[in-house]
Amino acid sequence: MCGIIGCTGRGEATLETLVDGLRKLDYRGYDSAGVALSGATGVDVVKKAGKLDALVEALSGERERLDGTVGIGHTRWSTHGAPTDANAHPHTDADGRVAVVHNGIIENYQSLRDELADAGYSFVSETDTEVVPHLVARALDGGAEPEAAVREAVSQLEGSYALGVVVAGVDAVFAARRDSPLVLGLGDGANYVASDVPAFREHTDHVVYLEDGEFARVEADSWVVTDADGDPVDHEVHVVEWDPEDTGKSGYEHFMLKEIHEQPRALRQGLQGRVDEMRGEVTLEEFPSLSPSRVHLLACGTSYHAAVYGAHVLHSRGVPAQAFYAHEYASATPPTDDALVVGVSQSGETADTLSAVRAARRRGAETVALTNTVESTMARECDHRLYIRSGPEIGVAATKTFASQLVALNLLALDVAPGGDDREAIAALRDLPGDVQTVLDSSRAAEVAREYADADAYFFIGRGPHYPVALEGALKLKEISYEHAEGFAAGELKHGPLALVTERTPVFATVTGEDQSARKTIGNVKEVEARDAPVVAVTDGRTEVERYADHVLEIPETHPHVAPLLANVQFQLVSYYVANDLGRPIDKPRHLAKSVTVE
Ligand code: F6R
Repeated sequence: MCGIIGCTGRGEATLETLVDGLRKLDYRGYDSAGVALSGATGVDVVKKAGKLDALVEALSGERERLDGTVGIGHTRWSTHGAPTDANAHPHTDADGRVAVVHNGIIENYQSLRDELADAGYSFVSETDTEVVPHLVARALDGGAEPEAAVREAVSQLEGSYALGVVVAGVDAVFAARRDSPLVLGLGDGANYVASDVPAFREHTDHVVYLEDGEFARVEADSWVVTDADGDPVDHEVHVVEWDPEDTGKSGYEHFMLKEIHEQPRALRQGLQGRVDEMRGEVTLEEFPSLSPSRVHLLACGTSYHAAVYGAHVLHSRGVPAQAFYAHEYASATPPTDDALVVGVSQSGETADTLSAVRAARRRGAETVALTNTVESTMARECDHRLYIRSGPEIGVAATKTFASQLVALNLLALDVAPGGDDREAIAALRDLPGDVQTVLDSSRAAEVAREYADADAYFFIGRGPHYPVALEGALKLKEISYEHAEGFAAGELKHGPLALVTERTPVFATVTGEDQSARKTIGNVKEVEARDAPVVAVTDGRTEVERYADHVLEIPETHPHVAPLLANVQFQLVSYYVANDLGRPIDKPRHLAKSVTVE
């Protein structure tokens, strides 16, 4: 995901400060990078597609020219337009008076662009961001002072943004935010702006977090934050403890909660440019056209649940598929020559999964890395890569990466299945980010969690594509709350686990639609209700499960393959709030690590 750094007061070290800052933002993931240095007469920009090393190389011959002492830098994770030099940030106006870096999405950019183009401003990139320098330039052309011109531009933007702006001849970085984090770093004779503290942490630990709608003018020896009307806003200066993992929660108490709330955006990124609803098609640009006769999905933990879901979706689209725990794959039937073996791993570094995928490769199977991590070992070693594009996940408990894996597996299934694409599923995927937002905005999970925070155990049930989500609901809860939780296929309860069910063991059931599978799950719900267990039903309102439930957590109606993703959000929130009520260290559960690199 994108990163921003800006600084003023660093003198000859300006360029170095920007590049170092960008390196600190490396963990966020990006596909191009650039810097702009502003001097008395103009703004100089160097930007490059690819990794930072490409930018550093491009800068090597330019150090003489880049002598400005106010600067901004950016790492870009493409949204509007491919990762090219032209689309990389900073973006400038035609005369090189203004440079802008931006995180977020400007939703009204097309109308602004049309308006500016009609007025004679010409564009050189495909990005939404490029409207901003032109808006500033138009205001300058109209006689506005630099700060007023930047404010005027910002006031015309709709959508989300964290912006860093420099204007030639002005010894200040301007910054503005809405729905995208931005923080000021307050140093000694130098000040900073960044999307996250690590970008300038080596220079200062004094920070000010900007709030939505605020605007900042940052000079070498002073800084001022104002609201949208230009009135000064008082801000507390925070002192950051030296622990980079404690930074960047954007106001959330835990990374996990932040990452749960980032899901609409993560899913949008995962879908960007990959679904064409008009043509009813999935296009995985970086992916070859494959028609496997069978698919093996190898994974561990949460990713294994994604694999079980993926196998269900592939199977229902006519592609025989099976999920395996990667660490058990050695004893499974070896893949045949025509099998496609997919390693599902958000980190791309999980030793068990790597080892299983390597074994499959040695046996001659064609392999795919379905991962969040560009350049991870799995991504490098497999024949093909399908990136889930979730953005960095810092909380140990996987949340948004699981959701993104399920989306990527849907895309894979639509892409490789015989018989073409499914317009309804594609439309449901398109609507998914908005539907997840609806769940986040309206969920009663916190209330439900509070009621059951002292339960003896928690059970999760689901059928078909809801089954892996029941498994995941239980795993999430046990990981972060340390309470006993189990997930079951709904039909399996009566074959044994029902003996555990009491009035002190709430059963969370996910059931949507009105087909036979839903009716059968409702039958299983009645079985636990008859044994006095409290029932929490996650449903789309089309079932009659509410009649047997103590609580209902609602989700919007959608395609049967997509509904489990929405149910999962309710389960994530239940887990989070149970753990929070119990005072657990949610982001760093005991004994667990983010990336498990031993077998
Ligand atoms: C649970 C969790 C783990 C991982 C597992 C595999 O919240 O995150 O169960 O899913 O360790 O990790 P990856 O996906 O990196 O292979």
